[in-house]
Formats: sequence, structure tokens, C-alpha cells
Amino acid sequence: MNSSVLSPSTSSSPAGPAPAQLLVGSPGRVLSPAALVGDTPVLWVGAPFTAPGRGFWAKLEGRNPGGIKDRTALYMVERARERGDLLPGGRIVESTSGTLGLGLALAGIVHGHPVTVVTDPGMEPLVAGLLTAYGAEIHTVRVPHPVGGWQQARRDRVRELLAVHPGAWCPDQYHNPDSVHAYAPLAYELVAQLGRIDTLVVSVGTGGHSAGVASVLRQFFPALKVVGVDTCGSTIFGQQAAPRLMRGLGSSIHPRNVDHTLFDEVHWVAADEAVWAARALARSRYASGGWSVGAVSLVARHLAATLPAEARIAAVFPDGPHRYAQTVFDDAWCRAHHLLDRTPADAPDEIAHPGERTVERWTTCRTVVDPATGTDPGTAEAAR
Ligand SMILES: Cc1ncc(COP(=O)(O)O)c(C=O)c1O
Repeated sequence: MNSSVLSPSTSSSPAGPAPAQLLVGSPGRVLSPAALVGDTPVLWVGAPFTAPGRGFWAKLEGRNPGGIKDRTALYMVERARERGDLLPGGRIVESTSGTLGLGLALAGIVHGHPVTVVTDPGMEPLVAGLLTAYGAEIHTVRVPHPVGGWQQARRDRVRELLAVHPGAWCPDQYHNPDSVHAYAPLAYELVAQLGRIDTLVVSVGTGGHSAGVASVLRQFFPALKVVGVDTCGSTIFGQQAAPRLMRGLGSSIHPRNVDHTLFDEVHWVAADEAVWAARALARSRYASGGWSVGAVSLVARHLAATLPAEARIAAVFPDGPHRYAQTVFDDAWCRAHHLLDRTPADAPDEIAHPGERTVERWTTCRTVVDPATGTDPGTAEAAR
């Protein structure tokens, strides 16, 4: 399949399937739910969300059964089974804000493994309900770790659960290299769909999809500009840890899967700015998502306005809008969290180094630092 669509209305055939097609079967018929993963479309996002005549391509990973992490969940489980790290029927235990949990529930059903998901009180009720429906067990930590926040608290609980379930296996999405390699097909799909890509805009949480997609795309397009999108209060690119409302992207630990050498620039986005963009996108383009989609689309919109008009920009949208109905798209919830008080600026603030100051609104930096090693890989240009 090579599915790129210019408008939400151009992807469906008004005539519907021909009678002969109904008799012989359809190309969308699959034997396993695993085959529903991948081959997601790209949608053109233009005006009025962007400036007239400008726009970018959104890779709609929300079209996977659970979201972008279906890809890595299946891949990590399959590789672990091949290596014998995960034995037949063995339990899968993992820390997740939800998206990987949905993918692991799918992988568990496909390959016959019970799944335990460790999360925190921020998990959306819709995701918790779906995980339960898919047969996963949910453990919720109640207190954040004093330094490593909710993520570290979740990972500590995973360790406790592994100790009491002999034969249980943890994919460890933050550090498992399989979680990077799992995204090669996404990059190949983008190449087939767009032909040429000049700029990639990706959110960063565990670092898996940014590293996996960017490293493959660079082989095709050596001059590719890679723009990472993080949240204010996340430590990934060298800012101080602070409480974060946004989930999915951002981190309070230092995941080894983040490849700092791949990024040309990073943007930190605040929660209200992501909400504004996710809502504007929904109103103008129907396709939307939550925190990471809002943040990525805000940055891609800015790049579309400021890069040369012929630059082809691909932005990865990790999931769809449904799970955010009671947060990003809920007026009362947003008002209670002061997320509807300001419209984002047209351009980010800029700092020369992540250590320059703590950022609290949309800000960019072209010096990309790996805070875990203390080394500064310098600009991505120098690292290549
Ligand atoms: C909705 C959403 N967006 C973005 C991300 C960040 O992706 P990655 O972990 O590949 O860096 C995640 C990760 O869980 C996510 O769930």
C-alpha cells in the first residue's frame, strides 16, 4: 500500500467496492491482528492550520490499532521470543504511559503472553478501559520517585513485579535497541509515500521512534534536518526535571534509546501550546491527537512557514485524538489547568545552550546535548 492523501475526503471511493471484489475478497482482509499494524497514511496539513501555500505531511500513526507503539511492541516481543528471553506463555511486564501498553496487549494476544502494565494516575480512563478489555493487568504507582518522577517510580515497580513472577520478561522500551530497529518500516513507508524528505519532525519520549526513523531516513537523504520535540520540564535534552502534564513525549530519566547525535535542533513545548495546536488541527484538518501531536504540529507549522517553500517536511503523529477527550479536548479540565489562557507565539524563543535557563514556553535550541553522558555531541552537522 502506498497511501498518501491530500484531503480527508479523497481517500474513499464514492462508488464503493465493485460486486466482483465483494465476491473474491478485499485487499484489506487479514488473518492476524498483527497484520493491521503499519502502512499508515500520510495526510497533507496546509492552510488554514499553516500559512497560505505552506504545509507539511503528517504520518498518521493513530491509524494503527493502538498507536505508533504497536510497531515496537510486536517487534520487541518477536525478537525476545526468537532469542529465548521470553519463553512461550511467559508474562510481559512493562512501564508505560499507555501507548506501548496497548501495543503489548496486542502482541500478548497474538503470541499468547499475559501482559502486566505499570502506569501512574495520569493514565486516561479510556486507555485503562481498553487495556482491561484486551486482557492486560494494570498496576498503578501512587507516588512519584523523588528524583526520577513517575517514570522512575513505574520502573521500580516493574522490578518488584519481575521478582515475584518467575519467567516474566520486561521489554524495557527506554533502553532496548529493538525498540529503535522496530521503526525502520515506518521510515521506508515515508520514503515510498513522499519520495524525498528534507525535514523530519519527531517527538521524543523513550527516543525509539525518533532514532529508528531518523537513522534510516538519513541513509536516503544525508542532508535531512531532524527536529526533536520535547516538553518543558523534561530532562531528555538537558533541561531541569519539573512536573509535567504532557504524557507520551518527555522524560524524567535518561533513556539510552535517545540518539542525541541525530538531531539538528530541539524544541520544548508547554502544555497549553500543545493543547492550542491539537485543537486547531482538529478543527481544520479533522486528524489530530494529544500532547505529542499538538507539540509536533506546532513545530512543523512553524517550520513550514519559515523553511523554503519547496522543503518537504514530514511530521510523525504518534496517535489519534480519542484518548484525550477528557484532557486536551475537555474545556473544564483545560480551564482547571490554565491551558486555555494564551495563544502560542508564531515563533519559539531561542536559547544558545540547554543549560542557559529553564524554559517555560515554546523554545528552540540548536545545540543538542546528551545530559546522561555529560558530553556535548555538538551540532548534528559536526557529529556527521
Ligand atoms: C503518544 C506518544 N507520543 C510520543 C511518544 C514518544 O515516542 P518515543 O517513546 O518513541 O520517543 C510516546 C511514547 O510513549 C507516546 O505514547
